[in-house]
Amino acid sequence: MINELSQDIERILVTEEEIQDRIKTLGEQISKDYAGKNPLVICILKGAAFFMTDLVRYLTVKCEMDFMDIDSYGDATVSSGQVKIVKDLSTSVDGRNVLIVEDIIDTGRTLHHLKELLALRKAKSVRICTLLDKPERREFGLTPDYIGLEVPNEFVVGYGLDYRQHYRNLPYIGVLKADIYE
Ligand code: PRP
Repeated sequence: MINELSQDIERILVTEEEIQDRIKTLGEQISKDYAGKNPLVICILKGAAFFMTDLVRYLTVKCEMDFMDIDSYGDATVSSGQVKIVKDLSTSVDGRNVLIVEDIIDTGRTLHHLKELLALRKAKSVRICTLLDKPERREFGLTPDYIGLEVPNEFVVGYGLDYRQHYRNLPYIGVLKADIYE
């Protein structure tokens, strides 16, 4: 049977097992750092949904979860230069220790703006946990506090990451074949 998803993948970059191993380690580190701090863990939709729900299951501290949808790219593969709040938080961040969970940081634009917003809303502390980091692409001076893996400047999809809303449900992270997006 044809696998509609994997047939478009050039190669696997991070396997399911490698993803889980890395998240477990991040979970242990975050649990140490946030002991007794009841963090508000914010998932940036849609890409981080898989990562966030796996990550919190490796946390051994009490935490709360909320979700925010920020649109910076639309359906284009290069940034539109704008950040729009599509879905806002339902929890107040005033006085809270906030942990932002992202699937990937590219230019840093999205989280640069979000950090400013959360500071204006009087968050007590704001840290960033990203599964993937593409430091080569950075345009904004943004350093994540927790990084799963650094990835090269290639078109990666899977485990939440999409190309035109597809491939998010691949269980691994792979490089998309160039003829799909060119
Ligand atoms: C992706 C990713 C980050 C952002 C990173 O989201 O999840 O939010 O782009 O890029 P930046 O560092 O250049 O700002 P996208 O807007 O594609 O939405 P999605 O998570 O719904 O796929």
